[in-house]
Amino acid sequence: MEKHVLLTTEDLNEFKLLLNEYNDKLVRSSQISIIAKSKYSKREVEKDYVIKCDNEYKAMKQEFKSIANISKFVENVKKAQQNLGQTKKGSDEYWKLFEELKLAQFLLKEAKIAVKDRGHGGELSKLNNTALKLKDIKFKYKEDFPFAVNGVSVEVNHGEYVTIIGHNGSGKSTLSKLIIGVLRPTSGSMEVYGNKVTSSNINIVRKFLGIVFQNPDNQFIGSTVRDDIAFGLENRRIEPSKMGKIIENAAKKVNMFDFLDHEPLMLSGGQKQRVAIASALALSPDILIFDEATSMLDPKGKSEVKNIMVELKNTRQKTIFSITHDMDEILNADKVMVMNKGELVKFGTPKEILADKDFLRSIHLDIPFVAQVEEALADVGIKLDHSDSLEELVNKICQK
Ligand SMILES: Nc1ncnc2c1ncn2[C@@H]1O[C@H](COP(=O)(O)OP(=O)(O)OP(=O)(O)O)[C@@H](O)[C@H]1O
Ligand SMILES: [Mg+2]
Repeated sequence: MEKHVLLTTEDLNEFKLLLNEYNDKLVRSSQISIIAKSKYSKREVEKDYVIKCDNEYKAMKQEFKSIANISKFVENVKKAQQNLGQTKKGSDEYWKLFEELKLAQFLLKEAKIAVKDRGHGGELSKLNNTALKLKDIKFKYKEDFPFAVNGVSVEVNHGEYVTIIGHNGSGKSTLSKLIIGVLRPTSGSMEVYGNKVTSSNINIVRKFLGIVFQNPDNQFIGSTVRDDIAFGLENRRIEPSKMGKIIENAAKKVNMFDFLDHEPLMLSGGQKQRVAIASALALSPDILIFDEATSMLDPKGKSEVKNIMVELKNTRQKTIFSITHDMDEILNADKVMVMNKGELVKFGTPKEILADKDFLRSIHLDIPFVAQVEEALADVGIKLDHSDSLEELVNKICQK
Protein backbone atom coordinates (compact mmCIF):
# COMPACT_ATOMS: atom_id res chain seq x y z
CA MET A 1 0.00 0.00 0.00
CA GLU A 2 1.16 3.51 -0.74
CA LYS A 3 2.21 5.89 2.04
CA HIS A 4 -0.11 8.84 2.69
CA VAL A 5 1.21 12.37 2.39
CA LEU A 6 0.57 14.22 5.64
CA LEU A 7 -0.24 17.79 6.69
CA THR A 8 2.45 20.04 8.14
CA THR A 9 2.72 22.83 10.71
CA GLU A 10 2.43 25.21 7.78
CA ASP A 11 -1.04 23.83 6.99
CA LEU A 12 -2.02 24.44 10.61
CA ASN A 13 -0.84 28.05 10.43
CA GLU A 14 -2.78 28.59 7.22
CA PHE A 15 -5.85 27.14 8.89
CA LYS A 16 -5.49 29.49 11.87
CA LEU A 17 -5.03 32.51 9.62
CA LEU A 18 -8.05 31.62 7.52
CA LEU A 19 -10.13 31.22 10.67
CA ASN A 20 -8.95 34.57 11.92
CA GLU A 21 -9.75 36.25 8.60
CA TYR A 22 -13.25 34.78 8.38
CA ASN A 23 -13.94 35.51 12.02
CA ASP A 24 -13.13 39.17 11.37
CA LYS A 25 -15.49 39.13 8.40
CA LEU A 26 -18.17 37.50 10.53
CA VAL A 27 -17.83 40.06 13.32
CA ARG A 28 -18.02 42.88 10.78
CA SER A 29 -21.17 41.56 9.10
CA SER A 30 -22.78 40.99 12.51
CA GLN A 31 -22.06 44.61 13.44
CA ILE A 32 -23.47 45.87 10.14
CA SER A 33 -26.63 43.84 10.74
CA ILE A 34 -27.03 45.20 14.30
CA ILE A 35 -26.52 48.80 13.14
CA ALA A 36 -29.05 48.27 10.33
CA LYS A 37 -31.65 47.06 12.83
CA SER A 38 -31.05 50.02 15.10
CA LYS A 39 -31.32 52.44 12.15
CA TYR A 40 -34.54 50.74 11.04
CA SER A 41 -36.04 51.27 14.51
CA LYS A 42 -35.46 55.01 13.95
CA ARG A 43 -36.84 54.67 10.42
CA GLU A 44 -33.51 55.77 8.95
CA VAL A 45 -33.33 52.78 6.57
CA GLU A 46 -35.81 50.57 4.69
CA LYS A 47 -36.78 47.12 5.90
CA ASP A 48 -35.30 45.58 2.74
CA TYR A 49 -31.88 46.86 3.78
CA VAL A 50 -32.21 45.18 7.19
CA ILE A 51 -33.17 41.90 5.54
CA LYS A 52 -30.26 42.17 3.10
CA CYS A 53 -27.78 42.76 5.94
CA ASP A 54 -29.24 39.93 7.95
CA ASN A 55 -29.02 37.53 5.02
CA GLU A 56 -25.44 38.52 4.43
CA TYR A 57 -24.67 37.83 8.09
CA LYS A 58 -26.35 34.41 7.89
CA ALA A 59 -24.39 33.56 4.74
CA MET A 60 -21.18 34.65 6.46
CA LYS A 61 -21.99 32.41 9.42
CA GLN A 62 -22.36 29.46 7.05
CA GLU A 63 -19.10 30.33 5.37
CA PHE A 64 -17.31 30.56 8.72
CA LYS A 65 -18.73 27.20 9.70
CA SER A 66 -17.39 25.58 6.55
CA ILE A 67 -13.95 27.13 7.16
CA ALA A 68 -13.93 26.03 10.83
CA ASN A 69 -13.91 22.41 9.82
CA ILE A 70 -11.26 20.21 11.37
CA SER A 71 -12.09 17.08 9.36
CA LYS A 72 -8.88 17.30 7.32
CA PHE A 73 -6.90 17.18 10.56
CA VAL A 74 -8.92 14.19 11.79
CA GLU A 75 -8.35 12.51 8.43
CA ASN A 76 -4.65 13.32 8.74
CA VAL A 77 -4.35 11.46 12.05
CA LYS A 78 -6.03 8.42 10.46
CA LYS A 79 -3.59 8.51 7.56
CA ALA A 80 -0.62 8.76 9.96
CA GLN A 81 -2.00 5.75 11.88
CA GLN A 82 -2.33 3.80 8.63
CA ASN A 83 1.23 4.68 7.59
CA LEU A 84 2.46 3.41 10.93
CA GLY A 85 0.31 0.29 10.78
CA GLN A 86 1.97 -0.75 7.51
CA THR A 87 5.48 -0.68 8.96
CA LYS A 88 7.48 -3.21 10.88
CA LYS A 89 7.54 -2.38 14.58
CA GLY A 90 10.85 -1.15 15.95
CA SER A 91 12.46 -0.36 12.56
CA ASP A 92 13.99 3.10 11.88
CA GLU A 93 11.11 3.82 9.53
CA TYR A 94 8.67 2.85 12.29
CA TRP A 95 10.04 5.49 14.69
CA LYS A 96 10.00 8.12 11.97
CA LEU A 97 6.34 7.39 11.28
CA PHE A 98 5.65 7.29 15.00
CA GLU A 99 6.96 10.88 15.25
CA GLU A 100 4.78 11.80 12.27
CA LEU A 101 1.75 10.41 14.06
CA LYS A 102 2.59 12.46 17.13
CA LEU A 103 2.80 15.58 14.95
CA ALA A 104 -0.54 14.76 13.30
CA GLN A 105 -2.12 14.41 16.75
CA PHE A 106 -0.59 17.73 17.81
CA LEU A 107 -1.94 19.44 14.68
CA LEU A 108 -5.42 18.11 15.40
CA LYS A 109 -5.30 19.28 19.01
CA GLU A 110 -4.14 22.75 17.92
CA ALA A 111 -6.79 22.93 15.19
CA LYS A 112 -9.49 22.17 17.77
CA ILE A 113 -8.19 24.94 20.04
CA ALA A 114 -8.05 27.35 17.10
CA VAL A 115 -11.68 26.64 16.21
CA LYS A 116 -12.70 27.17 19.82
CA ASP A 117 -11.11 30.59 20.02
CA ARG A 118 -11.80 31.40 16.37
CA GLY A 119 -8.16 31.83 15.44
CA HIS A 120 -7.72 34.63 17.96
CA GLY A 121 -6.10 33.22 21.08
CA GLY A 122 -4.11 30.74 19.04
CA GLU A 123 -0.51 31.40 18.22
CA LEU A 124 1.22 30.65 14.98
CA SER A 125 3.84 27.95 15.07
CA LYS A 126 7.41 28.68 14.08
CA LEU A 127 8.05 27.33 10.62
CA ASN A 128 11.80 27.86 10.68
CA ASN A 129 14.64 29.31 12.75
CA THR A 130 14.78 32.67 10.97
CA ALA A 131 13.23 35.03 13.50
CA LEU A 132 12.94 37.88 11.06
CA LYS A 133 13.32 38.14 7.32
CA LEU A 134 12.84 41.53 5.72
CA LYS A 135 12.90 41.88 1.94
CA ASP A 136 13.21 45.33 0.39
CA ILE A 137 11.07 47.06 3.02
CA LYS A 138 10.20 50.65 2.16
CA PHE A 139 8.17 53.14 4.08
CA LYS A 140 7.31 56.84 3.88
CA TYR A 141 5.18 58.79 6.35
CA LYS A 142 3.44 60.78 3.61
CA GLU A 143 3.16 60.49 -0.15
CA ASP A 144 5.44 63.46 -0.88
CA PHE A 145 7.94 62.67 1.94
CA PRO A 146 11.23 60.89 1.30
CA PHE A 147 11.46 57.22 2.32
CA ALA A 148 12.10 57.01 6.10
CA VAL A 149 13.03 53.36 5.52
CA ASN A 150 14.38 52.67 2.08
CA GLY A 151 14.76 49.11 0.83
CA VAL A 152 15.88 47.26 3.94
CA SER A 153 16.58 43.54 3.52
CA VAL A 154 17.95 41.44 6.35
CA GLU A 155 17.76 38.01 7.94
CA VAL A 156 18.21 37.41 11.66
CA ASN A 157 18.30 33.97 13.30
CA HIS A 158 16.50 33.00 16.48
CA GLY A 159 18.51 33.76 19.61
CA GLU A 160 20.71 36.43 18.04
CA TYR A 161 21.40 39.77 19.71
CA VAL A 162 21.38 42.50 17.10
CA THR A 163 22.15 46.17 17.73
CA ILE A 164 20.85 48.80 15.33
CA ILE A 165 22.95 51.94 15.09
CA GLY A 166 22.71 55.06 12.94
CA HIS A 167 22.64 58.84 13.12
CA ASN A 168 19.49 60.69 14.31
CA GLY A 169 16.69 60.32 11.78
CA SER A 170 18.32 57.38 9.98
CA GLY A 171 15.14 55.32 10.30
CA LYS A 172 15.87 53.07 13.28
CA SER A 173 12.63 53.71 15.19
CA THR A 174 10.58 53.65 12.01
CA LEU A 175 12.08 50.25 11.18
CA SER A 176 11.22 48.93 14.66
CA LYS A 177 7.64 50.14 14.27
CA LEU A 178 7.41 48.37 10.92
CA ILE A 179 8.69 45.18 12.52
CA ILE A 180 6.15 45.23 15.35
CA GLY A 181 3.35 46.15 12.95
CA VAL A 182 2.48 49.61 14.27
CA LEU A 183 3.33 50.88 10.78
CA ARG A 184 2.68 48.99 7.56
CA PRO A 185 5.39 49.01 4.86
CA THR A 186 4.72 50.91 1.64
CA SER A 187 6.30 47.95 -0.15
CA GLY A 188 8.42 44.89 0.53
CA SER A 189 7.77 41.71 2.46
CA MET A 190 8.36 40.44 5.95
CA GLU A 191 8.43 36.97 7.48
CA VAL A 192 8.46 36.13 11.17
CA TYR A 193 9.66 32.57 11.85
CA GLY A 194 8.71 31.71 8.28
CA ASN A 195 5.20 33.17 8.56
CA LYS A 196 4.60 35.71 5.84
CA VAL A 197 3.11 38.86 7.39
CA THR A 198 -0.07 40.14 5.73
CA SER A 199 -2.62 42.76 6.74
CA SER A 200 -5.01 40.02 7.84
CA ASN A 201 -2.54 38.15 10.05
CA ILE A 202 -0.58 41.00 11.59
CA ASN A 203 -2.43 40.72 14.91
CA ILE A 204 -1.47 37.07 15.31
CA VAL A 205 2.11 37.59 14.13
CA ARG A 206 2.45 40.42 16.64
CA LYS A 207 2.34 37.82 19.42
CA PHE A 208 5.90 36.91 18.49
CA LEU A 209 7.03 40.47 19.21
CA GLY A 210 7.52 42.79 22.17
CA ILE A 211 8.97 46.28 22.43
CA VAL A 212 10.38 48.51 25.15
CA PHE A 213 10.51 52.21 24.32
CA GLN A 214 12.83 55.01 25.32
CA ASN A 215 10.72 56.95 27.78
CA PRO A 216 9.82 54.92 30.89
CA ASP A 217 7.11 57.42 31.87
CA ASN A 218 5.03 56.87 28.75
CA GLN A 219 4.61 53.15 29.31
CA PHE A 220 2.41 52.96 32.42
CA ILE A 221 -1.29 52.40 32.72
CA GLY A 222 -1.85 50.51 35.99
CA SER A 223 -1.91 51.90 39.52
CA THR A 224 0.47 49.21 40.78
CA VAL A 225 3.32 47.37 39.10
CA ARG A 226 1.19 44.21 39.24
CA ASP A 227 -1.77 45.90 37.47
CA ASP A 228 0.54 47.26 34.90
CA ILE A 229 1.99 43.90 33.95
CA ALA A 230 -1.54 42.43 34.06
CA PHE A 231 -2.81 44.96 31.52
CA GLY A 232 -1.11 43.35 28.53
CA LEU A 233 -2.19 39.91 29.68
CA GLU A 234 -5.82 40.99 29.93
CA ASN A 235 -5.60 42.34 26.40
CA ARG A 236 -4.45 38.91 25.28
CA ARG A 237 -7.34 37.35 27.16
CA ILE A 238 -5.09 35.17 29.32
CA GLU A 239 -7.09 33.17 31.86
CA PRO A 240 -7.20 35.14 35.15
CA SER A 241 -6.23 32.04 37.15
CA LYS A 242 -2.93 31.84 35.25
CA MET A 243 -2.11 35.53 35.47
CA GLY A 244 -0.68 35.69 39.00
CA LYS A 245 2.08 33.21 38.28
CA ILE A 246 2.97 34.79 34.93
CA ILE A 247 3.19 38.26 36.50
CA GLU A 248 5.34 37.04 39.38
CA ASN A 249 7.73 35.15 37.09
CA ALA A 250 8.12 38.17 34.81
CA ALA A 251 8.79 40.46 37.80
CA LYS A 252 11.37 38.02 39.16
CA LYS A 253 13.25 37.99 35.85
CA VAL A 254 13.87 41.75 36.16
CA ASN A 255 14.39 41.73 39.95
CA MET A 256 11.19 43.66 40.60
CA PHE A 257 9.28 40.97 42.51
CA ASP A 258 9.39 42.98 45.76
CA PHE A 259 7.84 45.97 44.02
CA LEU A 260 4.69 44.31 42.65
CA ASP A 261 2.38 46.33 44.90
CA HIS A 262 4.24 49.61 44.46
CA GLU A 263 2.96 52.52 42.45
CA PRO A 264 4.84 52.69 39.11
CA LEU A 265 5.18 56.47 39.22
CA MET A 266 7.13 56.28 42.49
CA LEU A 267 9.87 54.11 40.98
CA SER A 268 13.26 55.22 39.67
CA GLY A 269 13.80 55.40 35.91
CA GLY A 270 15.74 52.14 35.86
CA GLN A 271 13.05 50.38 37.88
CA LYS A 272 10.34 51.72 35.56
CA GLN A 273 12.18 50.37 32.53
CA ARG A 274 12.57 47.02 34.28
CA VAL A 275 8.81 46.94 34.81
CA ALA A 276 8.32 47.81 31.13
CA ILE A 277 10.59 44.85 30.28
CA ALA A 278 8.60 42.61 32.67
CA SER A 279 5.36 43.67 30.94
CA ALA A 280 6.87 42.69 27.60
CA LEU A 281 8.29 39.41 28.97
CA ALA A 282 4.95 38.43 30.53
CA LEU A 283 3.57 38.05 27.01
CA SER A 284 6.50 35.73 26.23
CA PRO A 285 7.51 37.21 22.89
CA ASP A 286 10.23 35.43 20.93
CA ILE A 287 11.54 38.72 19.58
CA LEU A 288 12.17 41.71 21.84
CA ILE A 289 13.01 45.17 20.57
CA PHE A 290 14.59 47.81 22.80
CA ASP A 291 14.33 51.26 21.25
CA GLU A 292 16.98 53.22 23.14
CA ALA A 293 15.60 51.75 26.36
CA THR A 294 18.51 53.05 28.43
CA SER A 295 19.06 56.48 26.90
CA MET A 296 16.90 58.43 29.37
CA LEU A 297 18.24 56.73 32.48
CA ASP A 298 20.89 57.80 34.97
CA PRO A 299 24.10 55.70 35.09
CA LYS A 300 22.68 53.36 37.77
CA GLY A 301 19.45 52.82 35.82
CA LYS A 302 21.42 52.32 32.62
CA SER A 303 23.53 49.57 34.11
CA GLU A 304 20.47 47.90 35.74
CA VAL A 305 18.68 47.69 32.41
CA LYS A 306 21.80 46.74 30.44
CA ASN A 307 22.41 43.87 32.87
CA ILE A 308 18.90 42.56 32.24
CA MET A 309 19.49 42.79 28.51
CA VAL A 310 22.75 40.85 28.80
CA GLU A 311 21.01 38.21 30.96
CA LEU A 312 18.28 37.86 28.34
CA LYS A 313 20.90 37.58 25.62
CA ASN A 314 22.76 34.85 27.49
CA THR A 315 19.69 32.61 27.74
CA ARG A 316 19.57 32.60 23.91
CA GLN A 317 15.83 32.03 24.19
CA LYS A 318 14.93 35.35 22.63
CA THR A 319 15.94 37.26 19.57
CA ILE A 320 16.88 40.75 20.67
CA PHE A 321 17.12 43.97 18.69
CA SER A 322 18.62 46.87 20.57
CA ILE A 323 18.53 50.31 18.97
CA THR A 324 21.25 52.38 20.53
CA HIS A 325 23.46 55.45 20.28
CA ASP A 326 25.84 53.87 22.75
CA MET A 327 28.60 52.62 20.51
CA ASP A 328 30.16 50.59 23.31
CA GLU A 329 27.02 48.44 23.36
CA ILE A 330 27.69 47.10 19.88
CA LEU A 331 30.68 45.16 21.20
CA ASN A 332 28.25 42.82 22.99
CA ALA A 333 26.21 42.11 19.89
CA ASP A 334 26.24 39.09 17.60
CA LYS A 335 25.39 41.31 14.64
CA VAL A 336 25.20 45.04 14.02
CA MET A 337 22.85 46.79 11.60
CA VAL A 338 24.07 50.19 10.48
CA MET A 339 21.33 52.52 9.22
CA ASN A 340 21.93 55.68 7.21
CA LYS A 341 19.26 57.81 5.52
CA GLY A 342 16.71 54.99 5.73
CA GLU A 343 19.03 52.40 4.24
CA LEU A 344 20.74 49.45 5.86
CA VAL A 345 24.27 50.35 4.79
CA LYS A 346 26.09 47.60 6.70
CA PHE A 347 25.18 44.36 8.45
CA GLY A 348 27.78 42.19 10.12
CA THR A 349 29.63 41.19 13.27
CA PRO A 350 30.98 44.00 15.51
CA LYS A 351 34.46 43.17 14.21
CA GLU A 352 33.38 43.55 10.58
CA ILE A 353 31.58 46.81 11.31
CA LEU A 354 34.47 48.30 13.28
CA ALA A 355 37.01 47.34 10.62
CA ASP A 356 36.04 50.42 8.61
CA LYS A 357 36.25 53.27 11.11
CA ASP A 358 36.47 55.94 8.42
CA PHE A 359 33.16 54.74 7.02
CA LEU A 360 31.50 55.00 10.45
CA ARG A 361 32.86 58.52 10.86
CA SER A 362 31.61 59.46 7.38
CA ILE A 363 28.05 58.71 8.50
CA HIS A 364 28.56 60.61 11.75
CA LEU A 365 28.92 57.68 14.12
CA ASP A 366 31.27 57.55 17.06
CA ILE A 367 33.73 54.74 17.48
CA PRO A 368 33.48 52.64 20.67
CA PHE A 369 35.96 53.76 23.31
CA VAL A 370 37.91 50.48 23.14
CA ALA A 371 38.27 50.84 19.37
CA GLN A 372 39.43 54.47 19.78
CA VAL A 373 42.18 53.36 22.16
CA GLU A 374 43.18 50.56 19.75
CA GLU A 375 43.39 53.08 16.94
CA ALA A 376 45.51 55.51 18.99
CA LEU A 377 47.85 52.65 19.93
CA ALA A 378 48.11 51.56 16.29
CA ASP A 379 49.12 55.12 15.36
CA VAL A 380 52.13 54.84 17.65
CA GLY A 381 53.04 51.41 16.30
CA ILE A 382 51.34 49.14 18.88
CA LYS A 383 49.12 46.81 16.86
CA LEU A 384 46.64 44.68 18.85
CA ASP A 385 43.83 42.30 17.86
CA HIS A 386 40.37 43.70 18.35
CA SER A 387 39.07 43.45 21.95
CA ASP A 388 35.44 43.16 23.00
CA SER A 389 35.91 45.03 26.26
CA LEU A 390 38.20 47.50 27.97
CA GLU A 391 39.26 44.77 30.38
CA GLU A 392 40.39 42.52 27.53
CA LEU A 393 42.31 45.40 25.96
CA VAL A 394 44.08 46.27 29.23
CA ASN A 395 45.12 42.63 29.61
CA LYS A 396 46.55 42.60 26.09
CA ILE A 397 48.50 45.81 26.73
CA CYS A 398 49.90 44.36 29.98
CA GLN A 399 51.07 41.24 28.15
CA LYS A 400 52.97 43.30 25.55
N1 LIG B 1 5.58 60.57 12.75
C1 LIG B 1 6.37 61.01 11.78
N2 LIG B 1 5.88 61.75 10.76
C2 LIG B 1 6.68 62.17 9.76
N3 LIG B 1 8.00 61.90 9.66
C3 LIG B 1 8.55 61.18 10.65
C4 LIG B 1 7.77 60.69 11.74
N4 LIG B 1 8.59 59.98 12.58
C5 LIG B 1 9.82 60.05 12.01
N5 LIG B 1 9.79 60.74 10.86
C6 LIG B 1 10.95 60.99 9.95
O1 LIG B 1 11.41 59.73 9.49
C7 LIG B 1 12.83 59.69 9.45
C8 LIG B 1 13.33 58.53 10.30
O2 LIG B 1 13.01 58.81 11.67
P1 LIG B 1 13.24 57.77 12.86
O3 LIG B 1 12.54 58.31 14.04
O4 LIG B 1 12.86 56.44 12.38
O5 LIG B 1 14.81 57.85 13.03
P2 LIG B 1 15.73 57.29 14.19
O6 LIG B 1 16.87 56.65 13.51
O7 LIG B 1 14.95 56.50 15.15
O8 LIG B 1 16.25 58.64 14.90
P3 LIG B 1 16.67 58.91 16.44
O9 LIG B 1 18.04 58.37 16.57
O10 LIG B 1 16.64 60.38 16.53
O11 LIG B 1 15.68 58.25 17.32
C9 LIG B 1 13.29 61.06 9.90
O12 LIG B 1 13.54 61.86 8.77
C10 LIG B 1 12.12 61.60 10.69
O13 LIG B 1 12.09 63.00 10.64
MG1 LIG C 1 14.53 56.66 17.22
